[in-house]
Amino acid sequence: MSGLWIVGLGPGGPEHRTAAAERAVREAEVVVGYGPYVDQCADLLGEQEVVRGKMGEELARAREAVERAKSARVALVSSGDAGVHGMAARTLAMAEGIDVTVVPGVTAALATAARLGAPLADDWATLSLSDLHLSLETVERRLTGLAMSGVALALYNPRSKTRTEPFDRALAILRQHRPGDTPVVVATDVARAGETLEHATLATLDPSTVTMRSLVLVAGETAMWSGEWLVALRDLAPITAATPAPVTPAAAPPTAPASPAHGGAA
Ligand SMILES: C[S@@+](CC[C@H](N)C(=O)[O-])C[C@H]1O[C@@H](n2cnc3c(N)ncnc32)[C@H](O)[C@@H]1O
Repeated sequence: MSGLWIVGLGPGGPEHRTAAAERAVREAEVVVGYGPYVDQCADLLGEQEVVRGKMGEELARAREAVERAKSARVALVSSGDAGVHGMAARTLAMAEGIDVTVVPGVTAALATAARLGAPLADDWATLSLSDLHLSLETVERRLTGLAMSGVALALYNPRSKTRTEPFDRALAILRQHRPGDTPVVVATDVARAGETLEHATLATLDPSTVTMRSLVLVAGETAMWSGEWLVALRDLAPITAATPAPVTPAAAPPTAPASPAHGGAA
């Protein structure tokens, strides 16, 4: 049966791939993807026709996958999860009338978090610093809101050799709104050969350690080190002025019914 499988391959090697992702690639007649992502699933390739794309040709790749899926089983492969700063959205937006299955994958933020402990156990957000499809002003507005919120941040597409400005500006925003001793980890090539984890703080972070193959994890306000593990404990959240005051019995209207809370017998 023809159709399109949009497949997240996970961050690197086969040990982080799901069984569903492997099956979708193995059973495909055509595998479409950016070259390095096709390489990432080379061990699953046999008789399939392979269409390798280049960086910057995402739209053409999505179109080709949708076209081919009208008459063949197509797997469009993506690193991590295809729906996290990946190919899924742009492909689905043009896939009307096609039978599509989206196969989830382990995104880089989760692979990084697992290496560090549980830094995303409290609230967190993901943000791409790419200004390719969005203005830098918009990226900065979103980052400012998130920096002020105190949640942990996973920064994707942080910096390339030629695109250094967004990261420098992002770092300035983070330093303005978060304490200097906030833990930051630059995780490069996680779950791939040559993986590195650079530990720093917002104050000490050296931007030159960050590449396009890095995920920058900025700890949230409830993070702490527990030995070698970075953990986020939700009950460490500061109580802010915005926290509503608890309702006391005296404040309740005289006609209010007795509260059934905690299963108390009337
Ligand atoms: C186009 S986005 C793709 C994200 C992918 N869909 C995911 O869910 O992980 C590329 C960015 O993801 C991050 N990334 C993807 N795989 C990574 C890995 N194995 N190690 C570190 N960062 C990674 C980097 O920030 C990189 O610039």
